Amino acid sequence: MKRYAALFLGLTLTTALFMPTNAQTEADSLKAARMQWFENAKLGIFIHWGIYAVRGVSESWSFYNNYLPYEEYMQQCKGFTAKKYQPEEWVNLIKESGAQYAVLTSKHHDGVALWDTKAGNLSTRKSTAARRDLLTPFAKEMRKAGLHLGLYYSLLDWSHQDYPNHTKTEVRYRIKDDPERWQRFVDFNKKQLTELNEQFRPDLYWFDGDWEQTASDWHAEELVKMLRKSNPNVIINSRIQGYGDYATPEQGIPVRKPADRWWELCQTINDSWGYQPNDRNFKTNYQLLRTFVDCLSMGGNLLLDFGPREDGTIPQEEIDALRHLGKWIKKHKEAVYETRAGIPTNYFQGYTTLNKSGDILYLYLPYRPNGQVEVKGLVNKVNRVWVVGNGTMLPYKIYNKNYWSEVPGNLYIDVPDSVLDPDITVLAVLLEGPAKLYQGSGQVISVN
Ligand code: GLC
Repeated sequence: MKRYAALFLGLTLTTALFMPTNAQTEADSLKAARMQWFENAKLGIFIHWGIYAVRGVSESWSFYNNYLPYEEYMQQCKGFTAKKYQPEEWVNLIKESGAQYAVLTSKHHDGVALWDTKAGNLSTRKSTAARRDLLTPFAKEMRKAGLHLGLYYSLLDWSHQDYPNHTKTEVRYRIKDDPERWQRFVDFNKKQLTELNEQFRPDLYWFDGDWEQTASDWHAEELVKMLRKSNPNVIINSRIQGYGDYATPEQGIPVRKPADRWWELCQTINDSWGYQPNDRNFKTNYQLLRTFVDCLSMGGNLLLDFGPREDGTIPQEEIDALRHLGKWIKKHKEAVYETRAGIPTNYFQGYTTLNKSGDILYLYLPYRPNGQVEVKGLVNKVNRVWVVGNGTMLPYKIYNKNYWSEVPGNLYIDVPDSVLDPDITVLAVLLEGPAKLYQGSGQVISVN
């Protein structure tokens, strides 16, 4: 009896130690639920719009790095007119690109708010030639179009008198020397975030600049709780010192599938976030598309940026790039939205994804094949192969499959020139049941 009691206690203790607590599993399933639209959306559009577009200098960093004196940087307020700003056109372009969400800079590191904030004096309404709130009309159009609204917000504010850092070389004070002054800044952030939450109830916050302070100095946990109190399903990116929902690699595409279940690569079309007319280093449509498909194949999203001019117009190169991407996505939508990460590259030399139920394997061909396309190690029976967005069924054959061996054969698919997409062709392979992959390293013939 005693032995059973001890065993029971032992089991209970082990369960308690190794099983997630109820609260933990509840938090995990809540998170999985709120991440759903994001996980299926795949493409988002980033917009960096601010006074830096007047001279076409880098957003905020140009004064921080002392490329331009702060006063001169702020003079751009006078030239920021927004006089041709048509948020409806922005949103039409976003829709056309195939994106399902967009993130607009409500306030960059320079502290100029795009909405009519009551928390400070620096805003497009109070400080620039535009003399108005530019965020509200954008948010309205986004809602009208049924798109998810994301707001970028810089936690750090190099213009604010109570923020410790001003430029790379000028530090106002240190938090530990004047905690009361710091508290004033924390309160200011809280006030602005409360305004954003109440006025726009965004679907996503894209924080930035968290690297300058610790989680406890930002009051990160408290901020997140505060935002979720009235906006419980809001998604929060990683840049809030450990309190976010998903990772945000920047510019360079990850080489290995990121460890985080949810992630989003943010990337520019040329090399700049904001409008910089001297930057002519635009990526080609093909390059952008490859990056997008690369994200898909590793189960992530792409947040592709454009930078409008000070008057609100969007450079033609960026319009063209987004439209091209949208055309490709429209044709291949079944192999875009709601897909999941694909199979490792030793099974297929290229990008792949799987559909939600795992029984359609999508193969993305960024080149014209010189011969048949090959997939190795697929345990499942293949039921059908077709060209996505074109519908043509393709002939295929399995070689090297022996009844006495568990090593699956090689699947070879014929891809005639006539079905090729000018950018990236996508093949769908319908499997019998969710994809199963052979993990071994071959087998010696022992029966014949
Ligand atoms: C960086 C920069 C910022 C830019 C952001 C977008 O963190 O600080 O200028 O807005 O990346 O990802």
